[in-house]
Amino acid sequence: MKAVLLTGHGGPDMLRYGDAPDPVAGDGDVLVDVFAASINAADYKVRLGGGRYGNLKFPHILGRDFSGVVRAVGAGVNDVAVGDEVFGVTDQGIEGCYAEKLAIKARLVAKKPPRLSHVEAAALGLISLTAVWAIEDTGRLQKNEKILIQGGAGGVAGFAIQLAKHLGATVITTASASNHDYVRRLGADQVIDYNKQDFTTEVSGCDVVFDTVGGAVRAGCYKVLRPGGRLIWIAPAPEGFEPPSDQQTLRPAVNRDRAHLERMLTLLQAGAVSPPTITRYKLAEAVAAHRISEARHLQGKLVFEVRPGA
Ligand SMILES: NC(=O)c1ccc[n+]([C@@H]2O[C@H](COP(=O)([O-])OP(=O)(O)OC[C@H]3O[C@@H](n4cnc5c(N)ncnc54)[C@H](OP(=O)(O)O)[C@@H]3O)[C@@H](O)[C@H]2O)c1
Repeated sequence: MKAVLLTGHGGPDMLRYGDAPDPVAGDGDVLVDVFAASINAADYKVRLGGGRYGNLKFPHILGRDFSGVVRAVGAGVNDVAVGDEVFGVTDQGIEGCYAEKLAIKARLVAKKPPRLSHVEAAALGLISLTAVWAIEDTGRLQKNEKILIQGGAGGVAGFAIQLAKHLGATVITTASASNHDYVRRLGADQVIDYNKQDFTTEVSGCDVVFDTVGGAVRAGCYKVLRPGGRLIWIAPAPEGFEPPSDQQTLRPAVNRDRAHLERMLTLLQAGAVSPPTITRYKLAEAVAAHRISEARHLQGKLVFEVRPGA
């Protein structure tokens, strides 16, 4: 099969479009023809290496979420069949979606509804699962609460804006001016241009802050949180950062399972959420896609259209 091969840790040029052995469905697996696979911020972090990403065997195939068609099923799989259109997210520590074929546990895929294209389903996989874990399972956001979502134009945050609005919260977000119309369309009640405004003086008394940006932004998040409020994070704070003790600091588990993918489908069916803005790439354009992802100012999602028209 064709795939994007990470040939070593380093810059985008370490990615090469080439040939890789076809995967095989083991017990409990489905073998999928991948029609679309998404690019996540985690992918460039793995590519760069260091820390927990330092022990890869090369060539390595990146990619954590996909949509496609089941071509074979392994022993013990009886709830997914050959020919099913499915989408899903690989288990923690496992990758391989930047490819024409993928073997994945059947319990990690859900049926793709016809109303979603493969590209849309791939775009929604990891971001929706992460946002549901963060906003519902971990933050337990309630109606009429006030939430600040950092980095609203990004994949996870954009989904979180829609979910928080659906749950009845007042939603504030941060974004560059060019993304303000976009995040308002997603449902943000207030948008802060973080390049010109200091969110710590514009916002106060939040019940919840969802930090998808991390780094220097983190300390300010606690300043806008009420005492006892919940800080949920998915992007790390600077090394050595000590969170205040009078507010809660929560990290979502983001376990992969079918139930969370189906929660996204329920939200979609209810009209509560819709797919993000999507920029399409071919697998052979992985270097360009990674440059955009790593620059960290994209809108919505970047997705590989692995089969034309997906
Ligand atoms: N399991 C997990 O824990 C998990 C799962 C998914 C993602 N993550 C992590 O969560 C983070 C976000 O992921 P993602 O895929 O949603 O990222 P993304 O789509 O790559 O988000 C990039 C966005 O961040 C915005 N941004 C950059 N700097 C900003 C700042 N200082 N203030 C506000 N917005 C800023 C940019 O918007 P503007 O152009 O408007 O600046 C851009 O839209 C990443 O670090 C990722 O690794 C963790």
